[in-house]
Amino acid sequence: MAHALLLVLSLLTTVAKLVGAKPLSPSQLLDTTVKPRAPGWTFNTKTETSGIVALESIVVSPTLALFFDRASDDPLQINGHSAWGALWNLETSNVTAIDVVTNSFCAGGALLSNGTMASIGGDQTGFPGNPVIKPGNQAIRLLGPCSSPTGEDCTLFEDPNLVLQAERWYPSAIRIFDGSLLIAGGMHVEAVFYNVDPENSFEFFPRKEESVRPSAFLERALPANLFPRMLALPDGTVFMVANNQTIIYDIEANTETVLPDLPNGVRVTNPIDGSIILLPLSPPDFTPEVLVCGGTIIDDTIQPGNLTSQIPATSQCSRITVTPEGIAKGWEVEHMLEGRTMHELLHIPNGQILIANGAGTGFAGFNSVQDLIGNSNADHAVLVPSIYTPDAPLGERIINSGMPSSGIARVYHSTITLTPQGNFLIGGSNPNNGTVVGANVTFPSEFRIQTLDPPFMSVPRPQIVSMPEKLSFNTSFTVPISLPSSLSRPDANVQVALMDLGFSTHGFHAGARLVLMDSEISSDGKSLTFVTPPNGRVYPPGPATVFLTVDNVTSEGAWVMMGSGNSPPTLE
Ligand SMILES: *[C@@H]1O[C@H](CO)[C@@H](O)[C@H](O)[C@H]1NC(C)=O
Ligand SMILES: *[C@@H]1O[C@H](CO)[C@@H](O)[C@H](O)[C@H]1NC(C)=O
Ligand SMILES: *[C@@H]1O[C@H](CO)[C@@H](O)[C@H](O)[C@H]1NC(C)=O
Ligand SMILES: *[C@@H]1O[C@H](CO)[C@@H](O)[C@H](O)[C@H]1NC(C)=O
Ligand SMILES: *[C@@H]1O[C@H](CO)[C@@H](O)[C@H](O)[C@H]1NC(C)=O
Ligand SMILES: *[C@@H]1O[C@H](CO)[C@@H](O)[C@H](O)[C@H]1NC(C)=O
Ligand SMILES: *[C@@H]1O[C@H](CO)[C@@H](O)[C@H](O)[C@H]1NC(C)=O
Ligand SMILES: *[C@@H]1O[C@H](CO)[C@@H](O)[C@H](O)[C@H]1NC(C)=O
Repeated sequence: MAHALLLVLSLLTTVAKLVGAKPLSPSQLLDTTVKPRAPGWTFNTKTETSGIVALESIVVSPTLALFFDRASDDPLQINGHSAWGALWNLETSNVTAIDVVTNSFCAGGALLSNGTMASIGGDQTGFPGNPVIKPGNQAIRLLGPCSSPTGEDCTLFEDPNLVLQAERWYPSAIRIFDGSLLIAGGMHVEAVFYNVDPENSFEFFPRKEESVRPSAFLERALPANLFPRMLALPDGTVFMVANNQTIIYDIEANTETVLPDLPNGVRVTNPIDGSIILLPLSPPDFTPEVLVCGGTIIDDTIQPGNLTSQIPATSQCSRITVTPEGIAKGWEVEHMLEGRTMHELLHIPNGQILIANGAGTGFAGFNSVQDLIGNSNADHAVLVPSIYTPDAPLGERIINSGMPSSGIARVYHSTITLTPQGNFLIGGSNPNNGTVVGANVTFPSEFRIQTLDPPFMSVPRPQIVSMPEKLSFNTSFTVPISLPSSLSRPDANVQVALMDLGFSTHGFHAGARLVLMDSEISSDGKSLTFVTPPNGRVYPPGPATVFLTVDNVTSEGAWVMMGSGNSPPTLE
């Protein structure tokens, strides 16, 4: 009996060795239901805090992330008042306050083709005790490009004469094929829950025309159409989801083509936050596929006073291929391991998708549903991330086995972003009206910063030794690399990803993009040749991070300018 078990064990260990996996432990062997695992991921909580609630987050240089909060009573100070902007140093975990003039509360943002970050819109109100604030609902805040690693040259520029065409609180912005920003939606002034004072239109930064473009789609998506989800498709059109409505917006023709509603009554935009992502685009066809996960199934005519923090979020993910055949086929439905709202979907450089943050029940916002948790409209923070593998079979794409728990609730007003270092930076959470701290509060204002480190952060990694500062479109480049001996196999799986790290806020990673590039490592393992995307429709001209992944071990990213670096509009 014992001999037989030992024999089985040694056979299985041999099989495991042959396929290159770790030998299984006896306890795993006795469990016949061993599931795919994602071991080796860890959360690391930094000793330095963000000083402000990191409710918007965007990486603006190889070493710096920019955070914005509302003008509030946060602990980080600047010029004798609480700060609501800060730079986080990704290498030293040092935080530096930025003096912001206008209220950046619930603004959108993105990087332009010339590397400048544009933060757009925000809140019209001030804050008691922080009187320096100016209204932010028409503001445009420009920063960088930052060349100093510690941010000395990263000044924020706010010109009172450079403003949006419309007042926008809760708008979205994405960079499009000519390197400028498409800006959508929002409301004019503060409202408590639904969008009762809507700006149902599009505009551009820099401005392209005299007036805004009205949108029937945003009108249809009322009252839950805030932070509309937008994805730039590789033909230059834009895929949009708001509430349960979906369209393709043709910027050049100014037409909206209606696509099938999200299935099964799921709604996904604020205050019912689901998340959305454009799956990695691959040559030669760059066929776009869209994934929408979470949100809630409710009747959106119910007023917040009749909603509760215990209404479950949906686990539904809906996926569609954005080609005529794919649209005819419609949405394919699958499920996360739990319901989520206010979470985010993000690219991992090897083409997988990370699902992180959020709550299992309730809604975005605070002080509006009937059974608040403290001030929060939501409850049951989801602490364990999941990984979605796009090319796995339906029903087997999502796993969390082996994933750690963050131990810190990241609900309303939390953020997460991939960094050039290759790990994920997580901050914020504040379902309160201003700064609320203390052990008595279930969901306090959260100043703790964490990283979620993938397994490759703790093993020898490939290295991109150098990279041109600018990459032209449709061009082959050869760059020096170095590979650890553990990855120097002739048949290793090589992936080179050109990524926009995106702008994180309110459960949406605006502008996030991963374009895989055809690539080859030289036979001596010392150089990498890759071919850039054909044009700015596949990757809108502007800043990008290039990651080399060999057998799922990812290098640090190389920060580049994809295209000319010209100010928008530019087609090169
Ligand atoms: C951290 O930033 C502050 C400015 O906020 C600066 O005075 C200090 O020197 C920095 N510390 C390090 C270690 O970079
Ligand atoms: C989308 O929402 C609208 C408005 O509530 C509703 O009439 C429609 O049936 C919904 N679509 C689906 C597919 O559930
Ligand atoms: C809640 O529902 C009741 C019954 O339908 C209705 O009378 C009341 O106006 C609703 N309250 C809110 C705040 O929506
Ligand atoms: C937040 O506080 C301000 C006063 O500082 C008040 O005017 C506003 O109504 C409050 N909002 C909510 C949603 O509680
Ligand atoms: C925190 O909770 C304790 C125990 O319930 C209570 O005595 C104390 O007053 C609370 N503090 C605040 C600030 O609410
Ligand atoms: C890209 O370059 C190839 C030749 O290297 C050319 O055949 C092709 O037309 C170019 N594509 C675009 C979009 O310019
Ligand atoms: C890389 O990760 C994917 C997804 O988990 C897995 O299917 C694949 O076997 C891994 N490849 C290698 C070479 O480890
Ligand atoms: C980038 O373009 C924007 C929009 O035209 C402009 O406001 C900004 O000054 C430009 N930045 C640089 C560094 O030229």
